Amino acid sequence: MMTTDKVSIDTIIAMCKNRGFVFQGSEIYDGLANTWDYGPLGVELKNHIKQLWWREFVTTNDNSVGLDGGILMNRNVWVASGHVGGFADPLMDCKDCQTRTRADKLIESHDENINADGWTNQALEAYINQHHLVCPKCGKFNWTPIRQFNLMFETHRGVTQNNTDQIFLRPETAQSEFINFTNVQRSMRLKVPFGIGQIGKAFRNEITPGNFIFRTVEFEQMEHQLFCHADDAMAHYEKYKQKIWNFITNTLGIRAENLRFHDHEKLVFYAKAACDMEYHFPFGWGELNGTHHRGVHDLTNHQNLSKKSMEYLDPMTNQKFIPTVIESSQGLERLFLAILCDAYHTETLADGDTRVVLKLNPILAPYQICVLPLQKKGLTETATQLYRDLQQQFTVTYDDAGSIGKRYRRQDEIGTPLCVTVDYDTLNDQAVTIRNRDTMEQTRVKIADLPAKVIDIFTSYNKKKNIL
Ligand code: GAP
Repeated sequence: MMTTDKVSIDTIIAMCKNRGFVFQGSEIYDGLANTWDYGPLGVELKNHIKQLWWREFVTTNDNSVGLDGGILMNRNVWVASGHVGGFADPLMDCKDCQTRTRADKLIESHDENINADGWTNQALEAYINQHHLVCPKCGKFNWTPIRQFNLMFETHRGVTQNNTDQIFLRPETAQSEFINFTNVQRSMRLKVPFGIGQIGKAFRNEITPGNFIFRTVEFEQMEHQLFCHADDAMAHYEKYKQKIWNFITNTLGIRAENLRFHDHEKLVFYAKAACDMEYHFPFGWGELNGTHHRGVHDLTNHQNLSKKSMEYLDPMTNQKFIPTVIESSQGLERLFLAILCDAYHTETLADGDTRVVLKLNPILAPYQICVLPLQKKGLTETATQLYRDLQQQFTVTYDDAGSIGKRYRRQDEIGTPLCVTVDYDTLNDQAVTIRNRDTMEQTRVKIADLPAKVIDIFTSYNKKKNIL
């Protein structure tokens, strides 16, 4: 059997649409650029990722609690955070074809070792001129000067047009954690160090979105902020860098060879350290998540603008201080895309046939089991009962349409780890055939032993290096 895991982004997009993972947003009205809807399988995969992240960063993470903040917040939140003044992209237009391009991304695509984030307009323009970087659309070198565009989505609150307040859709979830720091600490009687985790929508008016769901205007973040003493902050930072690496490789099973850390050389003035994890997407290396040492910047700014104390009184030392924040920030859709790209395999089988198989970790797969009656006639009742029973413990689908071979292939393509086939012998021996997605091996198992056998296969999955 020959296997290849090379896949183009167009193949992933087509697979997502055809198999019900992701659809273009507002498709019947010709779409709304850069928006996507998640279909029946996509929402299952998303939910599984969120559940696993929540367990890792909130429920089993010492001294961590959850929060579900509002998307709309007082405008001052974004004044204090610096987003009103400075959350902008450096953009330039091609004077020949009018295509708008992000100057920093143009440089990074020219040399993938460069991180141009935070460069001044002059530095960006100097590099573009020196290397004669042309418009990616028309190939001409005829740029306007670089201008900064604010990325926040603006909206208005109020009933009449002349009497409205300008507010914003949040561009990151993190600020809810900061403005609720004292609420959470006091209500839960937490001692520093403690963490707050949140999963929720964020919105950014990205001018140069793209690469499918990699950079979108509406997305979900899974963020955890640890509030700690400044003296311990670097140790926590290293721990959280390792924690997200372990989560993505060990828990989710993304292959380490497709991942790397990228430490930021250039830091914003208040940060002591920042590091991205990158995944090798079909279009190149791209940021998957970030671990950030944010210092006392956010809490201090909120204290200054709101005039509400953000200090913590240490009961052991009687020392009062503003805690330092270590942040782990993960974009859900980027992880979703990395999981699909990593799992996608094409195999040429011994008989020359080819199959597409999505080698998803069973804990992520939209369906863990598919129940199939070999024929509808005489087997539907037994198969339906088995389907209902298995649903009590697993995520299960049912397929009785088409040949058994075609049905197996359909499940391979959506990553269902096990197919359970009910045949005429089942009626006598109370046994079924389990067909393994990765090895395609088939084994006969008594129905009474089936749940334990399935759990056994799933449990040993990671130990066997991602093979069922
Ligand atoms: N609170 C810190 C923060 O928001 P960020 O580096 O701007 O930091 C964190 O974003 C993560 O959010 C990124 O690593 C990425 O996974 C995701 N993300 C950011 N912008 C995105 C976009 N336009 N589309 C999809 N995901 C995005």
